[in-house]
Amino acid sequence: MGNIHLNVDTLDQEKLALLQTYIDELERPEESLIHVLHRAQKLFGHIPHNLQFFVAKQLHIGAARVNGVVSFYSFFNEDKPGKYDISVCMGTACYVRGAEKVLHTLLDTLEIEKGKVTDDGLFSVRDVRCIGACGLAPVVTVGEKVYGHTTEDIALDIIDYYRGEHNEN
Ligand code: FES
Repeated sequence: MGNIHLNVDTLDQEKLALLQTYIDELERPEESLIHVLHRAQKLFGHIPHNLQFFVAKQLHIGAARVNGVVSFYSFFNEDKPGKYDISVCMGTACYVRGAEKVLHTLLDTLEIEKGKVTDDGLFSVRDVRCIGACGLAPVVTVGEKVYGHTTEDIALDIIDYYRGEHNEN
């Protein structure tokens, strides 16, 4: 995990208490890592290293194991997402209809890597598994908003739209 920040005092203590309560109520906490991480991400929006460390301590497992799971699954974010968190579905239906091109258009245009945030904090882009809207493949979501039948051009329009929205506010 390298040079990292493990001080849990800097985390939102109210959210941490909610996570603690959730863990305390689990029957087999040490076998519930994925569930705990889902709850942690729901509460905090992402799972930074100090939160991973907290989870590891509470579940009595190694921090490296927690980090391994967070890094492996693309639906867990270590970094704080951008104001506009873009997800590109890479499930089979979306993949065969060109989701990869859409994903790369977004990443190349924003000049970021998957899972990272633009320098201005506006955009983050990640890939996700099937979100259950295969009839609209390829699907992109920005927060709660769903875009269906997306293309590389639509990916560019999405970026322009949210840039504009940000500039208006
Ligand atoms: S494969 Fe993309 S929504 Fe199902």
